[in-house]
Amino acid sequence: MDRIIIRGGNRLTGRLPISGAKNSALTLLPCALLTDEPVTLRNLPRLADVDSFGHLLNQLGVSTMVEGARPEDFGRVMTLRAGRVTSTVAPYDIVRKMRASILVLGPLLARAGEATVSLPGGCAIGNRPIDLHLKALEAFGARIEITAGYVKAIAPDGGLPGGTVTFPVVSVGATENALMAAVLANGTCILDNAAREPEIVDLCHLLIAMGAEIEGVGTDRLTVVGKPRLHGATYAVMPDRIEAGSYACAAAITGGDVDLVGARADDMQAVLAALRDAGVEVEVKRDAIRIAAAGRLRPLTLSTAPFPGFPTDMQAQFMAMLCMADGASVLTETIFENRYMHVPELARMGADISVNGRTAVVRGVPKLTGAPVMATDLRASMSLILAGLVAEGETIVNRIYHLDRGYERLEEKLQTVGADIERNNDD
Ligand code: UD1
Repeated sequence: MDRIIIRGGNRLTGRLPISGAKNSALTLLPCALLTDEPVTLRNLPRLADVDSFGHLLNQLGVSTMVEGARPEDFGRVMTLRAGRVTSTVAPYDIVRKMRASILVLGPLLARAGEATVSLPGGCAIGNRPIDLHLKALEAFGARIEITAGYVKAIAPDGGLPGGTVTFPVVSVGATENALMAAVLANGTCILDNAAREPEIVDLCHLLIAMGAEIEGVGTDRLTVVGKPRLHGATYAVMPDRIEAGSYACAAAITGGDVDLVGARADDMQAVLAALRDAGVEVEVKRDAIRIAAAGRLRPLTLSTAPFPGFPTDMQAQFMAMLCMADGASVLTETIFENRYMHVPELARMGADISVNGRTAVVRGVPKLTGAPVMATDLRASMSLILAGLVAEGETIVNRIYHLDRGYERLEEKLQTVGADIERNNDD
């Protein structure tokens, strides 16, 4: 199995390119199901999850063609075409490996009048239900049946009539599924207390480019006037704000000076504000965000929240960074239970962290020490990479398939800015 080996202590400097956003790509890809015309996505990150999503779409009758895939390039262009939807079933085997498969539910229902998707079940960062996805589709007029581990959504003959859903809690995935179902409805669909994450805005922009009518983009109330059909479009995936935030932490924890090329500051205000509070210099340039740090960091008090709050997807990376702060930080995770599984691994590297329910207290330590570690999810794995970059000696990160799901050519990017990091195979 592949693993990553880091010899810590190098200060990171230079320019590091930011890829297209994974979480955006995974909601833009299923939009191809909404039209029989080609949809071309540019700046798609080269990630295992994007490939898996392509394979799922292939099974549903979507053809996928990849261009510009020279090995030295970051990102690629994919043209998807769903001339005819040949299957409306997302099977267990695929959904269990990639939770985002649930995002075919809304567009399949809208285009084909029905969709059957395996229930995703639990995952490493907690029990992640899909009740809100179903609540929205029901509010728009779908009938929902759950049998044998599968959920089936069925539209009345002639399509979804439309309606209003008020989400009791903000859900990124449920907002995405509801939007993709709404754009082909017969009537108007209203999403109240919708998620406002930049990835949702990206989704709205693609849908509008395909001919959808959506009002309130970027707010928590979206009004969608359904259209009889959508057309093809060409669209570039937004830069990955979580990848950018992760490398910002890498620059900060090593006392480095790094330009995050292509990162968009507007999508990252909460993270940039937290970095500044920690004493990190943040300079927004024309084509990049410069992150520079010198000396010990200051401790922080942070609580995760839906956008524009501090993202749950940055909690683990900040925790690693704050191990090197001068004093005690307090982190509260409000989105997912069970999202502190990196804590025992960081502790093995010398971190001083105590967890009580949803709150973690991180006491800064003089140094971290390299160790063999492994992680159980994507962002947790990144926190171990960050700790490894500053730790004394060698850190071996196992189970890196998590990282390959979400960080395009991680070790190559970190090498460019001076990290001593390599991938090898222990077989
Ligand atoms: C998405 C992202 C994930 C990120 C998360 C928060 C993708 C593929 N995944 O996940 O990387 O960590 O947003 O930014 O883009 N909830 C329910 N019922 C539901 C749906 C959600 O109770 O039907 C709860 C969840 O348990 C959680 C909260 O709502 O407590 C937010 O979850 P949600 O925003 O839906 O996260 P995902 O879309 O799964």
